Amino acid sequence: MTDAELTRSQAYEESENLGRNTSDNPSMGEIIARRFSRRDLMRGALAVTAISATVSPLALATAEKARAETDASAFRFKEPAAGVDERHHVAEGYDADILIRWGDPVLPGAPAFDPKSQSAEAQAGQFGYNNDFLGYIPLPDAADPSAHGLLVVNHEYTNEELMFPGIPPQHTKDVRFKDMTKALVDIEMMAHGGSVIEVRKVDGKWQVVPDSKYARRITAETEMEITGPAAGAERMKTSYDAEGRRVRGMLNNCAGGITPWGTWLTCEENFNGYFWGKADGHPEEAALKRYGVPGNSYNWGQHYDRFDLAKEPNESNRFGWVVEIDPLDPTSVPKKRTAMGRFKHEGAANIVNKDGRFVVYQGDDERFDYVYKFVTEGRVDPADRAANMDLLDRGTLHVARYDADGTGEWLPLVFGEGPLTAANGFASQADVVIEARRAADLLGATKMDRPEDVEANPQTDKVYVILTNNTSRKTEQVDAANPRANNEFGHIIEMLPEGGDHAARKFTWEILVKCGDPSIADVGATFSSATSKDGWFGMPDNCAIDSEGRLWVSTDGMSEKSTGRADGLFAVDTEGAARGTSKLFFRCPAGAELCGPMPTPDLTTFFVAVQHPGDDGKDWSAFGRISTFDDPATRWPDFEDGMPPRPSIVAITKQGGGKIAG
Ligand code: FEO
Ligand code: CA
Ligand code: CA
Ligand code: CA
Repeated sequence: MTDAELTRSQAYEESENLGRNTSDNPSMGEIIARRFSRRDLMRGALAVTAISATVSPLALATAEKARAETDASAFRFKEPAAGVDERHHVAEGYDADILIRWGDPVLPGAPAFDPKSQSAEAQAGQFGYNNDFLGYIPLPDAADPSAHGLLVVNHEYTNEELMFPGIPPQHTKDVRFKDMTKALVDIEMMAHGGSVIEVRKVDGKWQVVPDSKYARRITAETEMEITGPAAGAERMKTSYDAEGRRVRGMLNNCAGGITPWGTWLTCEENFNGYFWGKADGHPEEAALKRYGVPGNSYNWGQHYDRFDLAKEPNESNRFGWVVEIDPLDPTSVPKKRTAMGRFKHEGAANIVNKDGRFVVYQGDDERFDYVYKFVTEGRVDPADRAANMDLLDRGTLHVARYDADGTGEWLPLVFGEGPLTAANGFASQADVVIEARRAADLLGATKMDRPEDVEANPQTDKVYVILTNNTSRKTEQVDAANPRANNEFGHIIEMLPEGGDHAARKFTWEILVKCGDPSIADVGATFSSATSKDGWFGMPDNCAIDSEGRLWVSTDGMSEKSTGRADGLFAVDTEGAARGTSKLFFRCPAGAELCGPMPTPDLTTFFVAVQHPGDDGKDWSAFGRISTFDDPATRWPDFEDGMPPRPSIVAITKQGGGKIAG
């Protein structure tokens, strides 16, 4: 498709789809080819199936466990029907209540939302756009930790055509931001970042606590500190910051994580899109191109020099990081933790290893990019919050190599080790983390089908890697871990660290499920036969492991055109005979992706984030045209004339109370 045919969100998906990894790491296809004839390889799926069927030690362990366990699904609820319409739908017997919407006041004194006369000043105090990651942090003094806490929310990006009256999509070649005045850009900048809100359950219903002392908005202008190995490096210095230690704002924060000490890890994903100009002739041309900088997806660089590469050549090195924020202290300075590497971070789900070290799993969401983990040097001190606050500044970043025999290895990205030396252009660990992708290329990491969330189950130590899709993978590029050419629907890998030790170098792995419609043989989906016609999904993105160790998966990119269904939240069995069974629990209104999924500790509430509702009007035959502020495919959630669709947080509870899906 040309860019004129793409909606804003689809254009963003495409920007993750360029496949900038030009390294010549052998693909698993080539490794397989050494063991199978070319003819076998051309049969693709057959060769890969043969390998996966013969290898996985994890499969044997799982089969044994299955025999010992019940056949029943871990989830009990009645699915709604899959499909697409203007509204959301939830399983029978549940309520899905709107908690907060784009434009609702967050800071004390913020004005009520007036979409026809929005201003940057108003937006700076109101809930931002495109809510993605959600984290729930019980307040330390809450009588019931599952009824009173803070919600931290990422505001990933903005859709100008849905936010502003009279504005068609601006990113296309024909329009090129001609309507995007500085006043509108300023609103966009204030609609990015994140929100901290205090929430409380009153008489069984969740409310935002008004004028909370914790309320906070983070925007593209919030002052932040740069910490870790890249802090102070020459490549981090700008005219604004001669020391390379301070930066304004965070960009395109997609998913994230909550630490056991109650901080919010928020992850910069497609930061490249905010930079303006061209890489050709830039002193760091090759490094910029590996990250797709500049993406020219927004015209902020026309109004602000720091986003114009020609005027501020190092500014883009200051984005693409994991940011740690202390939501309990609204005056705290957010910190960009450079030790965790620079790439298009999806999320930062994490686990305390059995030896006390802290391990953060991270996906780099781009076609043919990698899965990472960061292992801290120090140990988590459960009794001393302050002692954990800078734990993420020291440790070892690793990247995954998945071998065809069902094992794999975490390769450390350490300056001076292996190829990460001056001979390859690395002068320090700062260079290694700033160019983490190139370092990983040199180490021989496995090129994946767009890694999104990666989440560890503390009850089983299994780690789930969500791979959303990769339609660029050719038949000769398939490998055991990415076994489908033209992978439209994605898959989920399950890894088991050696000895249940998340700091270990070795792991075993297998594919939990290949996604897509299981009734179409050519799709090659592997959901269990207990999965209903409503229960399967494609394009998995975020996931959550609830306090009972159950896996929930939310999707991004389904539509009537692609799968005959809207995005939603799915319950996926991982154990016993039900393994691989998926059930639809919540379904988005047309055009929205589902993010967040965040259960309270007692599992009586599931918070979910409905992002960019109305965005895919063209792919929904009942609407069939580009959705705009004036003519949207849905006016969810308000359904009021003149009110545009609004990204919103939804609280799902069981009618009459009780545990979700229990
Ligand atoms: Fe913003 Fe990888 O999804
Ligand atoms: Ca998103
Ligand atoms: Ca995502
Ligand atoms: Ca996605």
